[in-house]
Amino acid sequence: MDIASIKSAYRRYARYYDRVFGPIFAPGRNMAIEQLDSQNGKRILEVGVGTGLSLPHYEDDTRIVGIDISSDMLNIARQRVQDENLGHVEALLEMDAENLSFEDNSFDAVIAMYVASVVPNPDRLMAEMARVCKPGGDLMVINHFASHNPLLRGMERGLTPLSRFVGFRPSMDLSELPQPQGFEQLGIYRANMMGYWKLVHYRHTGSAPSAPESKGNGAAHPSSSAHS
Ligand SMILES: C[S@@+](CC[C@H](N)C(=O)[O-])C[C@H]1O[C@@H](n2cnc3c(N)ncnc32)[C@H](O)[C@@H]1O
Repeated sequence: MDIASIKSAYRRYARYYDRVFGPIFAPGRNMAIEQLDSQNGKRILEVGVGTGLSLPHYEDDTRIVGIDISSDMLNIARQRVQDENLGHVEALLEMDAENLSFEDNSFDAVIAMYVASVVPNPDRLMAEMARVCKPGGDLMVINHFASHNPLLRGMERGLTPLSRFVGFRPSMDLSELPQPQGFEQLGIYRANMMGYWKLVHYRHTGSAPSAPESKGNGAAHPSSSAHS
């Protein structure tokens, strides 16, 4: 996977993403948002927000920042915010999840839904999510991980050479998801389709986040347009 092939895949998907992936992925999205202890007043970063299907499900008094690498997906999310008058959405920014332009400890919770097997480097994704999460904050990942069913496993391996085209790695194993430093794992839950997708929930233990490098003065520096 590389950024160019991801953008190209999601340019193709954008128009019919909601119809195809909306209902299939909905239980996981709802589960993650419900699992945030209390969303009240929290500033939450959603990484790989896509077309913004989750956005209406956050509490009105949250502040949601969504980022995505695909302008085609973000355009649909921006339209949704406008159509549904989602005032709790602080910004939708075009940004690489592996190189977030936010200061350390900027968010009370950081969530990535169906993104870990799409990005080129899941280790960079997790390090960046951890870096911007405040001490005591929640970090959640929902993803499909390689199946233990031999038939499904065979199909996933068969699809792997097509990853660049389909826009995700079908055979990513749970063991490939790095444990973020300074976080404890609270649990792994079956999210949807009898556990085909799983929710992994971590909490920042309060020690300093693992920051490969600091990002300076704290402001977000979107690489292109923002929507407030
Ligand atoms: C399967 S979609 C999931 C979208 C949304 N989270 C949902 O629940 O429907 C994966 C999303 O991750 C985005 N993405 C992939 N690589 C990314 C990266 N490096 N940085 C930011 N977003 C990325 C894609 O553009 C796409 O919108």
